[in-house]
Amino acid sequence: MPTILVTGGCGYIGSHTIVDLIDNGFEVVSVDNLVNSSEDILEGVFAITGKRVLNYRVDLCDYAATLRIFEQHPDIAGVIHFAALKSVGESVQQPLRYFHNNLNSLLSIISAMEKSGVPHLIFSSSCSVYGNAKELPVTENTPIEEAESPYARTKQMGEAIIPRLLPHLPRL
Ligand SMILES: NC(=O)c1ccc[n+]([C@@H]2O[C@H](COP(=O)([O-])OP(=O)(O)OC[C@H]3O[C@@H](n4cnc5c(N)ncnc54)[C@H](O)[C@@H]3O)[C@@H](O)[C@H]2O)c1
Repeated sequence: MPTILVTGGCGYIGSHTIVDLIDNGFEVVSVDNLVNSSEDILEGVFAITGKRVLNYRVDLCDYAATLRIFEQHPDIAGVIHFAALKSVGESVQQPLRYFHNNLNSLLSIISAMEKSGVPHLIFSSSCSVYGNAKELPVTENTPIEEAESPYARTKQMGEAIIPRLLPHLPRL
C-alpha cells in the first residue's frame, strides 16, 4: 500500500485519521512541529493499531526541511494536510501569526509535492469559509461569504490558492 504523509499528525483530527489510514492498510508518516500537540498521541495510535508511526518534528513553513521529508520517503503517494493554527479567537488576537503559519505551511507543502512529483493532496479546510451563512446546513454549493476571522480567511485563501497551483502538480 502507498505511504501517506499526514501533516498535523499529532493533532486531534490528524491522529484519528492516521488510525483510519493504518486500519485501511496504508503506510503513514507524520509531520508535526508539536506547537499544539504532543508525540504522546502516537503511543495511543500504537496501542490501537499496533503500528509505530514516525513523526518529523518539522515546522512546515521551513521549505527545505519539508522537502527533506519527501526526499527521505520517495514512496509518499499523497498528502493529507491538517497542520494549521485553528483557534478563531486567537487568530483575531494574532492575525499575522495565523496568516504566516497557515499560508506559508501550505505553500511549502505544495512546493515540496511539486518538486517531488507527488500528485495527491487533501486539504483540511473549515466550514468557517462560508462566513455567516444565510442557510443551514452549509454544503459545498453554499456561497463563500466574508470571512469572520483571520483563521477563516486563511482557509478561504487556501481554497483559492490550491486550484491555481495544483495544475502544476503532475497528473497520474
Ligand atoms: N477540530 C475541528 O473542529 C475542525 C473543524 C474544521 C476544520 N478543522 C481543521 O482541521 C485541521 C486539524 O484540526 P485539529 O482540530 O486536529 O487541530 P490540532 O491543533 O489538534 O492539530 C493541528 C496540528 O498541526 C500542528 N501544526 C500547526 N502548525 C504547524 C506547522 N507550521 N508545522 C507543523 N505542524 C504544525 C499542530 O502542532 C497540531 O498538532 C486544521 O487545519 C483545522 O483548521 C478542524
